[in-house]
Amino acid sequence: MSSRKNTDYIRPLVRALHAYVPGEQPRIKGLIKLNTNENPYPPSPRVLAAVRAAVDGRLRLYPNPTAQTLREKLAKLHGCRPENLIIGNGSDELLALATRAFVEPAGTALRGDPATFVQYFTPSYSLYPVLADIHGAARNATPLKPDFSLPPIKELKRGGIWKFDAALTFVTTPNAPSGRGYQTSELEKLCSAQKGIVILDEAYVDFANGNAMKLSLKFPHVLVARTFSKAYSLCFQRVGYFVGNAGLIAALHKIRDSYNVNGLGQAAAVATLDDLKFYRASFKRIIGTREWLSRELTNLGFRVFPSQTNFILVRPPLFPAKAWLQELRDRKILVRWFDLPEVKDYLRITVGARSEAAALVKAAGEIISQ
Ligand SMILES: Cc1ncc(COP(=O)(O)O)c(C=O)c1O
Repeated sequence: MSSRKNTDYIRPLVRALHAYVPGEQPRIKGLIKLNTNENPYPPSPRVLAAVRAAVDGRLRLYPNPTAQTLREKLAKLHGCRPENLIIGNGSDELLALATRAFVEPAGTALRGDPATFVQYFTPSYSLYPVLADIHGAARNATPLKPDFSLPPIKELKRGGIWKFDAALTFVTTPNAPSGRGYQTSELEKLCSAQKGIVILDEAYVDFANGNAMKLSLKFPHVLVARTFSKAYSLCFQRVGYFVGNAGLIAALHKIRDSYNVNGLGQAAAVATLDDLKFYRASFKRIIGTREWLSRELTNLGFRVFPSQTNFILVRPPLFPAKAWLQELRDRKILVRWFDLPEVKDYLRITVGARSEAAALVKAAGEIISQ
């Protein structure tokens, strides 16, 4: 028998890793789930019908390896070619692939080399540092302004932390977890200033006033990430995509799994694109609820940050955010609290259906007056 401990078989890098912690998915009856930014409404009836129709003997076959039909439809939608598109098992898979394709692991020989750097603002999507760590890359994080706006280029230069030559820079736009939206003109200035790859992660952009898709086709080093998870009610199916320069996209295709997007996911996403009118109506409802919820919580004494997404970041009154998390949970309402210095005083609340938002407001009122 080997005298090695189980952990001895594991690479030191993996042993030391802190895995990404996704929002809880508890199975508690009657729970109002406002913690993972899922859409409160189901996919369109046409999408459900398309998925059901695809469930037959064809399940024994491999799906199309490049999600060809979906890429063709998306190319039409975004005014580009299928070669400008790669589909992923959720956009998370593509963010990971990009880290592997564009960043060198930071071995001793390369310490401090810009080629090894994954860069992002804080707070933003908490997966980025995990992806850097998994790859053994170096990380560089720069704080957003206190109102979660982007620091202007001049300020980034003066601060001396931000790296204009980092191999890969992630920008969550609109920002998560704050919900803050950014102007395409300011994103364009940032993209112009960066020498490495920039990924504009537009996971929530359908709830915003504008989007920066045109930058992915204007710059050879900019990729835009989108997902069907949030706005299109397809978290369960795991479909996301990148748009950008055909050379970069080809590099990502080289390193993905051969059949990285499952067949039912492809069918669901294709049917979604055939029913965009349905979804545009649902965005409007969610935005309406977001504005209502923001007003109601403000009236109760919460500080509510303006949001361009399907969630809001709030600073609750009277007691710490972590205590609010538990108080709400006791009332079967689940929201998200991050144990991170930049946001530990806040709660992130997904905008649910109007009835869910109303239940949250009612519970908050009770907690305040107890
Ligand atoms: C900013 C951001 N980007 C990407 C994703 C990943 O989405 P997907 O479900 O497509 O992997 C999320 C999901 O929470 C997100 O918040």
